[in-house]
Amino acid sequence: MNHSGSATSVAGMRPSLPIETDRLLLRAYRLDDFDVFHDIRSRPDVVRYLYFDVQSPEESRESLAKRVDQWYVEKEGEALILAVERKDTGELIGDVVLFWHSEVHRRGELGFILHPDHHGHGFGAEAAREVLRLGFEELGLHRVEGRCDARNTASARLLERLGMRREGLFLENEFVKGEWCDELVLAMLDREWKGTQA
Ligand SMILES: CC(C)(COP(=O)(O)OP(=O)(O)OC[C@H]1O[C@@H](n2cnc3c(N)ncnc32)[C@H](O)[C@@H]1OP(=O)(O)O)[C@@H](O)C(=O)NCCC(=O)NCCS
Repeated sequence: MNHSGSATSVAGMRPSLPIETDRLLLRAYRLDDFDVFHDIRSRPDVVRYLYFDVQSPEESRESLAKRVDQWYVEKEGEALILAVERKDTGELIGDVVLFWHSEVHRRGELGFILHPDHHGHGFGAEAAREVLRLGFEELGLHRVEGRCDARNTASARLLERLGMRREGLFLENEFVKGEWCDELVLAMLDREWKGTQA
């Protein structure tokens, strides 16, 4: 791969928080989010298609402490993570993530986890759309991917609902939790994002 040329050098991104959507607030994590944060990560149904297994309280405490300072990105390789809160009840319901993979290639990836009590309302897509906007419009990304286990149909549907294209199915691409897993890759380019906003 040629690593010269096309990059726009950016100094990272510090979004102005909270971000408000119709039904949600996206904000930085706080240490007092622990109860819901751990409730989400200690559920087998939530972690079924994630790389990590159900977390102990100590593991959740450690993950949450890191996330408190991950609401911005300064360099490639970092992840911006925003807690998602319902405006009607004030409850924390999960989080959305933007991984900044490459400055030269202006490439990122989306991630999201919601508490199952709040599935089926479109909250995931509503929050993820804001993170896509940050990626394209504030960080200047050229391409954002969504990757999931091919059996994770809820995740694939969410990504398609955002307007991402299915690009590939990588057979037995990863060995996770004792088995070979097929990985589905969807993506959107910055010009396609502009098209969804037109
Ligand atoms: C992936 C995940 C966030 C998807 O949650 P979800 O609730 O299915 O997704 P959304 O929040 O976008 O909601 C979409 C659903 O709400 C429904 N819905 C109801 N009211 C709606 C509204 N007002 N607006 C939009 N959708 C609405 C949609 O029809 C859709 O249902 P369907 O998929 O059965 O057709 C969730 O399954 C999850 O957290 N899984 C565990 C973690 C995980 O695997 N993360 C992904 C790793 S790759």
